[in-house]
Amino acid sequence: MAIVGAGPAGLLLGQLLHRQGIEAVIVEARSRDYVEARIRAGVLEQGTIEVLREAGVGERMDREGLPHGGIYINYEGMRHHIPMSDLTGGRAVMIYGQTEVVKDLIAARLKDGAPLLFDCSDVSLGGVTSGEPVVRYTHDGQDRELGCELIAGCDGFHGVCRRAIPEDVLTTWGREYPFAWLGILADVAPSTDELIYAQHERGFALHSMRSPSVSRLYIQVDPTEKIDDWSDERIWSELHVRLASEGWELTEGPVIEKSITPMRSFVASPMRYGRLLLAGDAAHIVPPTGAKGLNLAVADVTVLAEALTEHFRHVSDAALDEYSDRCTMRVWRAQHFSWWMTTMLHQDPGADEYGRELQRSQLRYTCSSEAAMTSLAENYVGLRLQETAVHHG
Ligand code: FAD
Ligand code: PHB
Repeated sequence: MAIVGAGPAGLLLGQLLHRQGIEAVIVEARSRDYVEARIRAGVLEQGTIEVLREAGVGERMDREGLPHGGIYINYEGMRHHIPMSDLTGGRAVMIYGQTEVVKDLIAARLKDGAPLLFDCSDVSLGGVTSGEPVVRYTHDGQDRELGCELIAGCDGFHGVCRRAIPEDVLTTWGREYPFAWLGILADVAPSTDELIYAQHERGFALHSMRSPSVSRLYIQVDPTEKIDDWSDERIWSELHVRLASEGWELTEGPVIEKSITPMRSFVASPMRYGRLLLAGDAAHIVPPTGAKGLNLAVADVTVLAEALTEHFRHVSDAALDEYSDRCTMRVWRAQHFSWWMTTMLHQDPGADEYGRELQRSQLRYTCSSEAAMTSLAENYVGLRLQETAVHHG
């Protein structure tokens, strides 16, 4: 078995398979340092937390992660609390950085002595529709060819695996948004106990965190903005204005990292072509407002690991045949939720007055109706796999 990409999807798939006694080689383009330092997601759904524990990599997460049972929504200078756990029968999320999940998975793999190759260049796939697929790559200056039975394409949105599927086989859907997120990591204790999502006429802002002493904050900016034009002072000043609510103060601290990320929605289907199976961002992207990307990647590989286990144990290929369909329903739920959170909370430069009034009405309803809050809460903490999956008997 070959796995292309050592992001959360590829590494977790490797771990789940290893625990079933199925060997795989993971081929990654970047260095270990780069992969471990790439700052991205921070919110783990209840289902993701459970999968990581079952995969034997939940120990540090349980020790250092911050369980959160609610979020705040800020608009018109007022802060509203959404008590997610109360509304979902006690379900919650965990604040634990993607970097930490990735470090834990890499450590587990290296401890087991399972193959994980960093710094592989010129990665390409061959024979995907034949009985003998191969992954070709250059490592340590040598051209190599890895023959395998199946290939898991876990190489993210910009990877090579999705592109190995002919255009007439793949259907894609997508949307680019007229804004981006400027994110900072700050060496300062969070000014809030739970995440604050703020809608403001100057644009969206989010106060998140990584630990009791490190804050993660975002502001909506134009996608053409350059990070060099944003001094730390300018970023903090926007954060103060957009996150403001009466009697609350935002504490500033040294900025450790800052970057701008474009926002898009994207779905490719089917997720299987011959011997190639796509998982995670290789198959779909969501804007980060719903905190769903990493969680979707985990959900995909959980379904995939089960299907591959049945395949390699010669039980049946039925689950492998249904892999794409089983994932697609969850993918579209997350697509809708992420699009909905994004449009409710961002300032759309192209919106007319009618659009702005609709947005205000949606915010008022979401923050005052228990039914609306419950809908947000159950999507945010994550729907159970079975709730959106097709069953195979
Ligand atoms: P990736 O993490 O992209 O991993 C793919 C891997 O493949 C990489 O290591 C890459 O180097 C490697 N690769 C690429 N090309 C090749 C090649 N040709 N050959 C070999 N290897 C290759 N999600 C959440 O759930 N919650 C959040 O709070 C959240 N916040 C986010 C905030 C930001 C600012 C961003 C940018 C994303 C956020 N996400 C969030 C999304 C989340 O980070 C992604 O969905 C997640 O990383 C997907 O994992 P993946 O393994 O599928 O892909
Ligand atoms: C983060 O902490 O990076 C984060 C939190 C919530 C989101 C997106 C990103 O919706």
